[in-house]
Amino acid sequence: MAEAYPITEHVFDAIVVGAGGSGLRAAVGMVEAGLSVACVTKVYPTRSHTVAAQGGINAALGNMNEDDWRFHMYDTVKGSDWLGDQDAIEYMTKNAPAAVYELEHYGVPFSRTDAGRIYQRAFGGQSVDFGKGQAYRTCAAADRTGHVILHTLFQQALKNKVQFFNEYFALDLLMGEDGECLGILAMCIEDGSLHRFRAHQTCLATGGYGRVYFSATSAHTCTGDGNAMVLRAGLPLQDMEFVQFHPTGVYGAGCLITEGARGEGGYLTNAEGERFMERYAPSAKDLASRDVVSRAMTIEINEGRGVGANKDHIHLHLEHLDPALLHKRLPGISETARIFAGVDVTKEPIPVVPTCHYNMGGIPTNHLTEVVRPKNGDADSVVPGLMAVGEAACASVHGANRLGGNSLIDLVVFGRAAAHRAAETIRPGSPHRPLTADAGEAASLARLDALRQANGSENSGAIRLAMQKTMQKYATVFRDGPLLEEGVAKLGEVVASLPQIRLADRSLVWNSDLVEALELQNLMAQAVATVHSARYRTESRGAHAREDFPERDDENWMKHTLVWVDERHEVSIEPRPVHYFTLSNEVEVVPPSKRVY
Ligand code: FUM
Repeated sequence: MAEAYPITEHVFDAIVVGAGGSGLRAAVGMVEAGLSVACVTKVYPTRSHTVAAQGGINAALGNMNEDDWRFHMYDTVKGSDWLGDQDAIEYMTKNAPAAVYELEHYGVPFSRTDAGRIYQRAFGGQSVDFGKGQAYRTCAAADRTGHVILHTLFQQALKNKVQFFNEYFALDLLMGEDGECLGILAMCIEDGSLHRFRAHQTCLATGGYGRVYFSATSAHTCTGDGNAMVLRAGLPLQDMEFVQFHPTGVYGAGCLITEGARGEGGYLTNAEGERFMERYAPSAKDLASRDVVSRAMTIEINEGRGVGANKDHIHLHLEHLDPALLHKRLPGISETARIFAGVDVTKEPIPVVPTCHYNMGGIPTNHLTEVVRPKNGDADSVVPGLMAVGEAACASVHGANRLGGNSLIDLVVFGRAAAHRAAETIRPGSPHRPLTADAGEAASLARLDALRQANGSENSGAIRLAMQKTMQKYATVFRDGPLLEEGVAKLGEVVASLPQIRLADRSLVWNSDLVEALELQNLMAQAVATVHSARYRTESRGAHAREDFPERDDENWMKHTLVWVDERHEVSIEPRPVHYFTLSNEVEVVPPSKRVY
């Protein structure tokens, strides 16, 4: 018999779910625009995963050499392997300098050049003059850029009196009769109380779902909760086959060693001591795009040239660099290497391996951050009242492969855009539409209740591990048809074990076991979306490398993948056109060409 759950109602003009860089930037801007705003977050804001971003944030400031936002746009389109929406990429790259100066004025303590300007370092896949030379575009605060941005934005949010609901777990979207979003249902983790948040705009800033993989740079909490809420509301996700593997995760531990390490002069070698990237990317070498470097490393390992007793990783060298530079520019990763690999970076190389780092796919949005879904033949029809920003969103500025440093700029440019759009669409204090019986609340409570009653034989950690191992094996750097077929089947077996969950504790009060079970449900739907989308796309593009279809196929596949996963984990997929146009006449579209570095 289902328990009756008392619900406390909160009414705001707008709510932001998630308190990472994009969520905080959106919330600050919404309050500045005169809206009442709640920020609902499952972790204390400064524990959000933005804190882990290291190397920097891209903007064509031109502090180190000549730069132009059109070069940044060109690099981003090329990096995306022409799957990115060019209107959104134009918007991001053009607005990037203003967004970085705004962060500076908010108080972000960027590293400085001798002339006192914001320090910018080289990162992968970045050029000046449309591919002709290396750009220095990544604005950095040593190797703790995400940390300082997150803390600064949190200070701004507190100053602006954003109302925080910390350690509240968002359960589901509440949807209206006309398909509009009316708010969310959430659970306070501390005392298990349930809360309905009504809002004219609900902005999902819930981050990626890196934890579907066994080895990931993502925090344990990166479970893509907003993405799963969208799927449960019957809306699609987009481009879920595109998962970024960062070339330099610490071997065995998975934690990130910033690409800034190579930007400052670090390089990779194989077991023969060879700087093998010279063969794969003769111009950019170690600073080729991430997908290119990760594939090269994987080939070296697969062909027996990996280092270590099992020949299963690669060396990243920094020991030739001046220790003073390491201390000044890369203090965080020097510490990470010591703690997690037992390595003194001034003396020996760091053992590294490609590690799941970022999800290019997510909730499809337009460049205004409004969630889109195909309706009546219109692939870009908007879901009223629903927005998404940051890694949860697929705007799509990263397409098939994100460039390093483009994540942080995505967060703040589109966090700001969400605030602008909310201000344009909401009259502060206006009344809310009534909630109907089928808004999704009853289904959400039934799901919670069923989970609490679950009486199987497995703890959710065991099922989560089986899912992660399956994803790591079948949907990794290289894929092919038979492997993906097997992956779909194996993941199906893991999905079938979900009803076997057994909670150690059924209470609602501070029950981390219950939260992990809810997160597992969320992860599983996205794992399913990822392998099915990967099987569907029979070409290689960006991070999706199919050995059975090694070429990019623009004629048939220059299009997004929309995927729906229902409550029984049944999947449906359809294409959506890529935006091959720009917003202004200040720049032209970047036509597809061969992607070489
Ligand atoms: O390598 C890094 O510092 C990561 C940056 C990013 O993913 O943008």
